[in-house]
Amino acid sequence: MVNETRAAGAVSTLPSIGILISGRGSNLQALIDAVGSGRLRARLRIVIANRSAAAGLERARAAGIETRVVLHGDYESRAAFDAALVGILKDCQVDVVCLAGFMRLLGPGFCAAFPERILNIHPALLPAFPGVDAQQQALAHGVKVSGATVHFVTSELDAGPIVAQAAVPVLEGDTVESLAARILAVEHEIYPAAVQRILDGGWHVSGRRVVFGVGQSPPG
Ligand code: GRF
Repeated sequence: MVNETRAAGAVSTLPSIGILISGRGSNLQALIDAVGSGRLRARLRIVIANRSAAAGLERARAAGIETRVVLHGDYESRAAFDAALVGILKDCQVDVVCLAGFMRLLGPGFCAAFPERILNIHPALLPAFPGVDAQQQALAHGVKVSGATVHFVTSELDAGPIVAQAAVPVLEGDTVESLAARILAVEHEIYPAAVQRILDGGWHVSGRRVVFGVGQSPPG
């Protein structure tokens, strides 16, 4: 069941999203803005950060979204940290989890708690350049095109089924900063759109592929 929310006196059912961040939160802001404009028909239920200084927390508060800080250093193991996150997200009855610049690997326990319900945005055209410093990797390899990928999260780093991609040119003279900014602009477009597409249903995962147009109902 999706959660019930009351807006302007009317009862509506909207899928609930939990968002994990570690820093700036510009992709979180893109999701907030997409909800505000109606491009993303969901409730942003909670934002969890693993760093208390994550600037995205302030964006969440400004948007009236519940926030929590869960410091991985407070847990004796990755599994215990993951279990704490799962507990909060389950208590909040989230239907989908969005990673938005969350700089911690999530283990199999976390992934199993939300099968095909965890999305991430990555600043490269996966499977090229997984992991950290994706823009630096792109420049070092001399690729002429890079971009952004929205994918399902599995316990293999940046390797889950791809939901959406957008390409940008890599220009002569690009720096990590200039390329990152060009990629970030398309991240902010494709992430909310991809989340909505998943919420709309009508897809399934076949091996590494997300197949749209054939069957599965919306989460909830
Ligand atoms: C983005 O480039 C995203 O692709 C990557 O981490 C960065 C987060 O930026 N996973 P922000 O915190 O959303 O501004």
